[in-house]
Amino acid sequence: MEIKPQPGPQTAFLCSDADIAIYGGSAGGGKSYALLLHAMSIANVGSNAVLMRKTFPEIIQEGGLWDYAMELYNPLGAISKQSTELTFNFPSGGSVSFGHMQHEKDKYKWQGAQIACIGFDELAHFSKSQFFYMLSRNRDPKGKVTPHIRGTCNPDPDSWLAQFLSWWIGEDGYPIKERAGATRYFITVQDEIQWGDTKSELIERFGKDSEPKSVAFYPASIQDNQILISKDPGYIASLKALDEVDRARLLGGNWKAKRIGKLFKNPKFADWDFRYDSTAWVDTGFGGGNNTTLQIAINIGSEYIVIGFSWPESVIHLYDEFARLCKKYHVGTVTFESNADKGASAREFRKFWPSVEDHPERENKHNKIVNYGVYNWGKIYIASEINQYESGRRWLSNLLAYEEKVEPDDEADGMASLIRSIEDGGPIAYNLGNLE
Ligand SMILES: Nc1ncnc2c1ncn2[C@@H]1O[C@H](COP(=O)(O)OP(=O)(O)OP(=O)(O)O)[C@@H](O)[C@H]1O
Ligand SMILES: [Mg+2]
Repeated sequence: MEIKPQPGPQTAFLCSDADIAIYGGSAGGGKSYALLLHAMSIANVGSNAVLMRKTFPEIIQEGGLWDYAMELYNPLGAISKQSTELTFNFPSGGSVSFGHMQHEKDKYKWQGAQIACIGFDELAHFSKSQFFYMLSRNRDPKGKVTPHIRGTCNPDPDSWLAQFLSWWIGEDGYPIKERAGATRYFITVQDEIQWGDTKSELIERFGKDSEPKSVAFYPASIQDNQILISKDPGYIASLKALDEVDRARLLGGNWKAKRIGKLFKNPKFADWDFRYDSTAWVDTGFGGGNNTTLQIAINIGSEYIVIGFSWPESVIHLYDEFARLCKKYHVGTVTFESNADKGASAREFRKFWPSVEDHPERENKHNKIVNYGVYNWGKIYIASEINQYESGRRWLSNLLAYEEKVEPDDEADGMASLIRSIEDGGPIAYNLGNLE
């Protein structure tokens, strides 16, 4: 078997000398394959690469990165090791490992690590802060290659990445041809990204201690993957059969195709499972059109069962009701979103329920709803008994009526915050039965 990149953007991506090179666009463009080829070239010269996917199952599932790697790396004499870590050790002394960061906090597992080449497959699935955290882990202790980051992605208009790549994307959502593979530079100043056309421009603006990083974006198209097209001629037809929005994104590589209308459609229902402990989140409202919402979730594996309640009243009338519901649904910790009252309602509720936290919100609300609510919607089941409560029916109908940036959004906001708090390391559900 001859292993080599295909002509066009796959080759260009592999030859990139940018600190950060991103290969994004159509499904089947050959992006993941390119990432594996790249990591191989790093390992071949005796250095180390880590390829990341958001979750562990995505790495090892059939046809995932691990399978590809077996096919590509074994013939080169690389020895695979599948223990707590997934690694290929190359005869040169270099290695390619596979990692995941399902939860926000998982980034800290890489504290202290030094990785010459970090590759993110489906970069838009990672959070911006995970990506930037990993930038700080990007060093080559062996001094064999210039440390760099590589990423692949499908277009996702709501992701932080769409913003990060906006210079390369046209008004119509398609990549600007003349800018394909062009390099730009950025530095981060007080959490804000500042872009420049050249390194010296940024150094002039922000001083000689600023260390601009170069970024290049390579648009991927299925048409560039002739190997796939000849092996599987039906693949393009199946992309054409997608709905309009997915077709524009996954066949056309469009970064602005978006669904308008409701974001939470066709809810799935499941019975609440009282064997599990749960986590709760209160979106505090103070009346006057602002609903107070309480949402409770159990998290089993990667799936959630959620029950939510919504009241047009101020939070101060609802503590008894919260306490009753928290008890009924075996809640561990309750978090109050508490910007408006500086945590006063959280402190008040502590008299009724001991484990209370409060959380002043700084994140952009819409991004949060998309990144944690919409993104996880396929894994969320609504508790069937929600319909037995008037406040439950109100919560669900407001959630299902939610459209981007249209009020009321307290239900969508509360649910997204709750899922985020669990993903960021809130209590993972444990089986109470097993603990006895
Ligand atoms: N250089 C290459 N040599 C041989 N086969 C290749 C090469 N590049 C891509 N392919 C083939 O094309 C297929 C699709 O490529 P790949 O999985 O990398 O696409 P992708 O852009 O990551 O797709 P998706 O967006 O669905 O993740 C691979 O399974 C592989 O068989
Ligand atoms: Mg892929």
